[in-house]
Amino acid sequence: MRKLGPGRLVIASHNEGKVREISELLGPHGITPVSAAELDLPEPDEIGATFIDNADLKARAAADLSGLPALADDSGLCVEALGDRPGIFSARWALADPRVSAEAGPGEVTGARDFDRAMARVHEELEALGPEASRNAHFVCALAVCWPDGHAEWFEGRVDGVLTWPPRGDKGFGYDPIFVPAGREMTFGEMDPAEKHAISHRADAFRKLVAALL
Ligand code: IMP
Repeated sequence: MRKLGPGRLVIASHNEGKVREISELLGPHGITPVSAAELDLPEPDEIGATFIDNADLKARAAADLSGLPALADDSGLCVEALGDRPGIFSARWALADPRVSAEAGPGEVTGARDFDRAMARVHEELEALGPEASRNAHFVCALAVCWPDGHAEWFEGRVDGVLTWPPRGDKGFGYDPIFVPAGREMTFGEMDPAEKHAISHRADAFRKLVAALL
């Protein structure tokens, strides 16, 4: 396992919130985060078949173009009874434009998002399977670190839970209001961010990354 030395690391995301959160996690380890936006790096299409594939292709593109090590993530909600969908299509299920197919090409992921629509679709597909269908679900977060010489390391974090309906809470984002983590009563949407961050798929993946690389 290759270690990540002190110095610059490209955070291959154009989402400011994500860049800030990742910077806060890695700052104490002597890493100087540089965002893909600061370097004016393009966002590659997410054409991978898995979370790891998508994280890897984003980190690989950033490392190749910048000549620096780069970190990227990809995440989503997997619903057991739906064959782990929406999975890598989690963001696309929230596309507000009904003319765009929910599993349309990756170039169409940008644009307005409507997670009420995405949560309703999950609920409707589960209802169609009948009351016996499992409500088990999990969030996944994949992280890839790629170096300019071609080396890469990957990590995956996960949090298990059950889905509830109707949605509850407005503290989170995405599918948080319908996800109750295992052993809890509150949805991710009802939890304070610190409480969610202690048990989330993202925290799990970052714990693995920090333990292995830093
Ligand atoms: P991406 O990782 O930025 O491609 O986004 C994946 C999508 O998965 C997000 O738009 C959300 O819909 C969903 N997602 C990922 N992590 C979470 C989470 O912690 N809570 C709720 N939804 C999430």
